Amino acid sequence: MISGGRCLSGTVAVRGAKNAVLKHLVACLLAPGRHRISNVPGILDVEIMRRVLAHIGAATRGEDGTVEVEVPDDLVPEAPIHLVRQMRASILVLGALLARCGEARVALPGGDDFGSRPIDMHVGGFESMGARFTLSHGVLLAAAPEGLHGAEVYLEFPSVGATENLLLAGAMARGRTVIGNAAREPEIADLAAFLSKMGARITGAGTSTIEIDGVPRLSPAEHRAVPDRLEAGTYLMAGAITGGEVTVTECLPGHLRMELRKLEEAGCEVAIGEGEVTLRGPRRLRAVDFATLPYPGFHTDMHPQMVALLARAEGTSVMTENIYDARFRYVGELNRMGADITTEGQHVVVRGVAALSGCPVEAWDIRAGAAVVLAGLAAEGITTVAGAHHIDRGYQSLDGGLARLGADLRREAVPG
Ligand code: UD1
Repeated sequence: MISGGRCLSGTVAVRGAKNAVLKHLVACLLAPGRHRISNVPGILDVEIMRRVLAHIGAATRGEDGTVEVEVPDDLVPEAPIHLVRQMRASILVLGALLARCGEARVALPGGDDFGSRPIDMHVGGFESMGARFTLSHGVLLAAAPEGLHGAEVYLEFPSVGATENLLLAGAMARGRTVIGNAAREPEIADLAAFLSKMGARITGAGTSTIEIDGVPRLSPAEHRAVPDRLEAGTYLMAGAITGGEVTVTECLPGHLRMELRKLEEAGCEVAIGEGEVTLRGPRRLRAVDFATLPYPGFHTDMHPQMVALLARAEGTSVMTENIYDARFRYVGELNRMGADITTEGQHVVVRGVAALSGCPVEAWDIRAGAAVVLAGLAAEGITTVAGAHHIDRGYQSLDGGLARLGADLRREAVPG
């Protein structure tokens, strides 16, 4: 429950990136022994991935942002439906299990409801590395009885997950794997950095061509996860929408270039320091047009929050979503709060209104949830966000962080 209208100010530190840590946990499966990942956020998705690892046979222990993963010699090459359904990132175990065990049984993923999210590029890549697939009762059965061999894989689209899955598999495949049109996200470079500490031979991670020379075995390693640019961006946007001044520390501002540029175009003042960013929001934001694109473009996972900001801006903004075909469920929630937003295919037209008014809304997924929370901070009266557990999948206590910045909000358990 958010009582809107407060101007946020202060400093908040961000934690390690969800979208990096989930992959580090999977990467541990490649080497028996004890690994240690630090800067791990206390979020639900990390819990789910730890359960996936437990099912596979790897015990995890976590304290104060550090998770130790104990990987045995023998693994159960399987990710069960009840866990995979909760989190699409579970599909990443496919590459690691194929590499380690020569087989894998992985239920087809669920996760956020963004329209169809196929895994054809993952499967096509593994096939060219020698794996064969069958689908049986919703479970993908993968086998590479001769082991995986290196291959040249050119992705149709720079998919984050496909790039990472092939990176994991290529690290232990026979010979050289080249991933062309690879995704360039910082979290991929961070995964490659961890794999390199384990002994993998990778060049080009973070660019469009990644080359991996497979090695027969890897060793356990320690790694500190890269900061979460999405958590950082969300807090900065909380400053922007409330006309406040927020400093985010322990982040890498270079990973937020496009988002910060758009916030500046919208009238925010941005000051970049060493590992920190300060944003001061104007009295009223200006309309800006933007389009989501693979990194270094504007991150699709920050589009709903940016649209929430523009809902109250002066003028009309047009946003084009290029990554997902249906990521607009939050629009109805913002309109219930008085926004004037329409969608047309992949485009969202946001006609800025002078004020939003608080009401009951729903958090449909992690970032849709963040968007309605931001709108609630700026709205008149009380906004009640149902489904807050979706937000907890990706943010460690977003409500706590916002409260420290001066937001008036509290959480209530609803009976039943
Ligand atoms: C990751 C992030 C997610 C982010 C997304 C894009 C994690 C855990 N999740 O998801 O938060 O929104 O990157 O930055 O890191 N696609 C296909 N076939 C495939 C694979 C993907 O058509 O085989 C399509 C998807 O349906 C989607 C687009 O490609 O439309 C991008 O997906 P991808 O980059 O793979 O995203 P994820 O790795 O699933």
